[in-house]
Amino acid sequence: MLYSEKVMDHFSNPRNVGEIEDADGVGEIGNAKCGDIMKMYLKIDPETKVITDAKFKTFGCGAAVATSSMATELIKGRSIDDALKLTNDAVVEALDGLPAVKIHCSVLAEQAVRSALSDYYTRQGIDPLPIVGEIKEPEE
Ligand code: FES
Repeated sequence: MLYSEKVMDHFSNPRNVGEIEDADGVGEIGNAKCGDIMKMYLKIDPETKVITDAKFKTFGCGAAVATSSMATELIKGRSIDDALKLTNDAVVEALDGLPAVKIHCSVLAEQAVRSALSDYYTRQGIDPLPIVGEIKEPEE
């Protein structure tokens, strides 16, 4: 079997699909090569800086759907600092692995979270670059 049970589960039954209308940060990231696009919405508690809600919309492959679903699950209820530490490797691990040709899909999920956090800081009047770093579109 090419995909783990967890990948299949998050692909067929993705968690946190949708939009947050009054989101505190919205990110979007695409991959020019495969044409997949991921949009990420975050709700952040102004006092505790905890991510109280995360939703996504992914126009893309099954692995992109599964990784964005898992990424939202991993950051919900966590602090911004924790979310900034979320790597694509952690997402892949939580999904019990991905085939090598699909690793870039998990990078898309990682960068979608960072892109939404970058937007959050921009809205707060804070330069996101020193905190979030550059948002990189995965190249393959
Ligand atoms: Fe492009 Fe999966 S093939 S994100």
